[in-house]
Amino acid sequence: MTITDFSVIVGDCRVLMPPRGPFDLILADPPYGDTSLAWDRRVDGWLRLACDALKPSGSLWGFGSLRCFMATANQFADAGLRYAQEIVWEKQNGTSFHADRFKRVHELVAQFYRADAPWSAVYNDVQTTPDATARTVRRKMRPPHTGHIDVGHYVSEDGGPRLMRSVIYARNCHGTAIHSTEKPSGLIEILIRTSCPQGGLVGDWFAGSGAAGEACRLAGRRYLGCEIDAGMAELARARIASVLPLAEGAQP
Ligand SMILES: C[S@@+](CC[C@H](N)C(=O)[O-])C[C@H]1O[C@@H](n2cnc3c(N)ncnc32)[C@H](O)[C@@H]1O
Repeated sequence: MTITDFSVIVGDCRVLMPPRGPFDLILADPPYGDTSLAWDRRVDGWLRLACDALKPSGSLWGFGSLRCFMATANQFADAGLRYAQEIVWEKQNGTSFHADRFKRVHELVAQFYRADAPWSAVYNDVQTTPDATARTVRRKMRPPHTGHIDVGHYVSEDGGPRLMRSVIYARNCHGTAIHSTEKPSGLIEILIRTSCPQGGLVGDWFAGSGAAGEACRLAGRRYLGCEIDAGMAELARARIASVLPLAEGAQP
């Protein structure tokens, strides 16, 4: 199969993905072996390979719970990855495993980057939302010369940009999903816009439904997904192809 700007390849990401890099951004929603689902079997050794396939300016954003990140924290460090930050994905409904726990309506998405690269080299396009409330903030200015401290102020515009919050609400895909753990493509698009430059290459190591491919098409980034289940990969290809017309000669 020809690898194009929007491809989903079938097989083990550990074998197929590293030679296709280097990637500007790697998205990873791996099986953590927490459920009885047939595909939910831990995949060993992928983190080191993913780190090596990442550009020095690249990021790896991984989905998971705090439970699984704590259980695998050493594996991230051993693979040469350093933790940067996380966002909380809040969803409209969730799971209640036991009566003595909170109803779980969130998941984490954590950003890592190569430990051999300085954070200043990592691509980062700060995201904003257009919902600032107009206000005037008074603040002390730096003294223009010794002994004199002036008071300054800045004014924000109603509806102007403000830094995107780290807790992001996005409805989960219940009712419309083609994969049992499908992630909202709108949420993934935020990660893509933050960590991959326009036209850059996103690697989706556990592609599932191809939600990230859809987000890449909308955001103008190139996409290479890898999914071990051939039937699911076929569904993902069809989904991605239906988002926008493909460029001439391209095959999903
Ligand atoms: C948590 S799901 C990903 C869901 C995806 N993020 C979505 O939004 O649809 C993990 C996927 O990884 C696939 N998978 C498991 N082991 C794999 C491997 N070694 N290489 C590639 N894909 C694998 C599974 O078949 C499953 O579809």
